[in-house]
Amino acid sequence: MEHVRVETKERDSISQGAAISSEIKHDEDPIATLPTREGWSTPLTLYNNFWLRSHLLPKCILIKENFKPRHDDIILATSPKSGTTWLKAIVFAIINRSRYGSFANTDHHPLLTQNPHTLVPFMCVKGTDLKQLETMPSPRLLATHLPLSLLPTAVSTMGCRIVYLCREPKDVLISWWHYDNKAAQGSKIDLDTAFAMFSEGCSSFGPFWDHYLQYWKESLQRPGEVVFLRYEEISSDPLKVVRDLALFLGMHFTEEEKRNGADEEVVRLCSFKNLSSLDVNKNGGFGNAEAKIYVRYSSHFRHGKTGDWVNYMTKEMGEKLDCLVDEKFKGSGLKF
Ligand code: A3P
Repeated sequence: MEHVRVETKERDSISQGAAISSEIKHDEDPIATLPTREGWSTPLTLYNNFWLRSHLLPKCILIKENFKPRHDDIILATSPKSGTTWLKAIVFAIINRSRYGSFANTDHHPLLTQNPHTLVPFMCVKGTDLKQLETMPSPRLLATHLPLSLLPTAVSTMGCRIVYLCREPKDVLISWWHYDNKAAQGSKIDLDTAFAMFSEGCSSFGPFWDHYLQYWKESLQRPGEVVFLRYEEISSDPLKVVRDLALFLGMHFTEEEKRNGADEEVVRLCSFKNLSSLDVNKNGGFGNAEAKIYVRYSSHFRHGKTGDWVNYMTKEMGEKLDCLVDEKFKGSGLKF
């Protein structure tokens, strides 16, 4: 079993956290006592019923305990491989449209030279620290893969707006499997192992069904403040989603903007074809030496289609995952 290494400052903070320190002896490393599993490109640690990438765990705990939400925060919460990159680009383009003008007439829109992950920070990656989040001007546009239960409860009580995005689980698995193997510096995971672990709930930020369900329930409880989206909805009618999101964010497209095609420009700017062809997204990337991974931005743009699972999984595997999904979502109103 591989244990996570924790930076001293982070470890001190974690040890002070009531959630875990109360159950352990004083001289034990609280994180090192948690169950850990290997298989994917980086080890996963089970923390409060979710499997998190071990090297990110200290940061995730810090977010839960120390991140201070603001009432006007916009949080893009996504299940990994559900189109996070796409959603970041869309929402960034919507809320900054008056600042950057018409995309058709400009070559200096930030999305043309920067990856969407650079423009919209994740709340729990190594490169983002709390100070950076605190110094961002309001309203902040933030992203996270954390399940709702691992965000500070103030996110709900303060009424932060959340756009949640998930995807048909079979497509998520195939997308994950490709992505993970591209990021891995060491051994690769075969599809059978990936399938077994995913179906057990053991994938990064999994179980995926609990991730979906937490935000699904939140969207039912706070309908004006939480929107629940699927990748397939954006794929089938991106213009409708762009318009609906703008409305949800209190920045609806005016009739004049629609006549001028500002909403269609957002769709075009953020399309798979456009983003994946940009130099920054073809050539850039980021690494994490500790986790032994290197992620090329291009690996966020693989195929961009729905239903690709049929090209990799057997019919039986598909049926097995469908049954699992039906069983997990039974009675919730959530269906795929
Ligand atoms: P595939 O691997 O099925 O192609 P995430 O951004 O959450 O990591 O999700 C990655 C998935 O979203 C990948 O799916 C990727 O191709 C797809 N994707 C990224 N940008 C997209 C875009 N602009 N339009 C459609 N799909 C996009």
